[in-house]
Amino acid sequence: MKSGFFSMGLCLIPLAAAISVTATAAPVPTPYADNNGALPPSSQYHGPLFKLSHAYPAKVAAPAMPWRAAIQNGQITVQNASVYAEALKAAVSRDMRTLLFDYAHWDAARRGWYNEPWLGSADGSYGGREAIHGMYVGSNPLDASLFAASGLKKPITTYVLTYYDKVAAQTLNHVWTAGAGMKPNVTSSSTQFAEGAIIVKAAFVTAGPDVWPVMAGTQVWPLYITTNATSGNTTLPKVTNTYLMQFDIIVKDSQSAPDTGWVFTTLVYDKDAKPGPNGIWDQMVVLGAQWGNDPQANSTVNPAAPLLQNWNNPAAPAYGGATFGWGNRLSGPNDGAMNDIAYEDGGTTKQVKNVQDSSCMSCHSTAQWNWKINNSPSFLLPAKAYDKKLPPQFVDNNQYLVSPPPGSPDWLRWFQNRKGNVPMDAGSIAADFDMVLTFKSLPLWYSATTHKPHLLNSLDLRGKPAPRAGK
Ligand code: HEC
Repeated sequence: MKSGFFSMGLCLIPLAAAISVTATAAPVPTPYADNNGALPPSSQYHGPLFKLSHAYPAKVAAPAMPWRAAIQNGQITVQNASVYAEALKAAVSRDMRTLLFDYAHWDAARRGWYNEPWLGSADGSYGGREAIHGMYVGSNPLDASLFAASGLKKPITTYVLTYYDKVAAQTLNHVWTAGAGMKPNVTSSSTQFAEGAIIVKAAFVTAGPDVWPVMAGTQVWPLYITTNATSGNTTLPKVTNTYLMQFDIIVKDSQSAPDTGWVFTTLVYDKDAKPGPNGIWDQMVVLGAQWGNDPQANSTVNPAAPLLQNWNNPAAPAYGGATFGWGNRLSGPNDGAMNDIAYEDGGTTKQVKNVQDSSCMSCHSTAQWNWKINNSPSFLLPAKAYDKKLPPQFVDNNQYLVSPPPGSPDWLRWFQNRKGNVPMDAGSIAADFDMVLTFKSLPLWYSATTHKPHLLNSLDLRGKPAPRAGK
């Protein structure tokens, strides 16, 4: 199912113009909606529903940071990254095991975990949070060819859910609370996270073990959804099983990672790992850690150039690494760091599928907001023609993103190291690597309060025009 507005082929109509005809009746703006309004009937689901946790604390004490102690308060390196990542995983273990495996006892507010506003209600082709777990579409669809080696038979949709710990939620307080969610306070200081802030994000997939053997034995969550690339979309929401695949844990830590101020880590489910005393949590294996973009390594010119700010775990399951980013910089199966791109090569246009063109920190280092255009001036993936007001260009039925040539100076703009208060483009406000803010909450706030569509509300997390069920 294709969204007609994006099926522009080679005729590149400015999307801002094309999209304005899609404006629909204005919904009532509700920053703290729990869900998109579709509630599962009791014939399909009995159990707790998602409650948005949004009593963001104004001030909390500096936290203990056992992950720093794990590397003797030095800097993170390729050698000690695994110890660091394990310490970070241990620090969230207790709460996250309750969230993932004991939903009846999960009370986010009591445990000090918080969600971002504006993601509840649906807008554009963004479907909003489903009611059971508060999840929304991450990537849709991910092509089965990406995971052919691990036996994936059908395309998949990923569903995601993000929580900020109380240290991180101080930033949500600074940005949203003054205007009760209606007037974001986005400045170069309000967007910054305190040292020790942790943000986690769970990703579940619509493919069960019958379609993707690597999901055998993982945690199952029922979601009340319509968008499902695996079984074919429905127009009416339906309680559908989804499967825990990936779990991100990122931390603000300028001591360990002075170039960017952040360490990004992620876990992937490994059916062959031993379930220990903590069950499936012990089978969530660290895929790797990244604390910079390795700007010195031009991985196109010299694919063997070593990465010094990235560690990938050789013991992680193979499917986890099937979608690493540029030069094998860290990225997980949920994250879309491989894309179909079109670029100029010696006077001809090349179209290539599944090119490594991003990574955790490459993509997140584009997090910025420009109040003149109510958007980020640079796209989240290396893209040409994302020039201030114009959207990125996709050619051939949205298949190929028009990109600078891999490894070119323009491409390298996406692989620099900046601290979280330095924007990618002058004149914008840096958002300290927070993509939810710049790619989701602010665009959704903008369209809810101005009743104008926002380009980003029709894109999935890779920036790919997302065809949605029923649209
Ligand atoms: C191609 C772009 C891209 C890549 C690659 C990517 N992300 Fe993200 N990430 C996003 C976007 C967009 C969002 C916000 C929308 C959402 O929640 O899905 C996000 C949200 C998050 C969040 C929630 C908090 C925040 O900062 O916005 C975390 C945590 C996160 N990503 C971690 C990771 C980790 C860890 C990796 C690598 C293993 C990664 N991401 C790779 C685009 C990306």
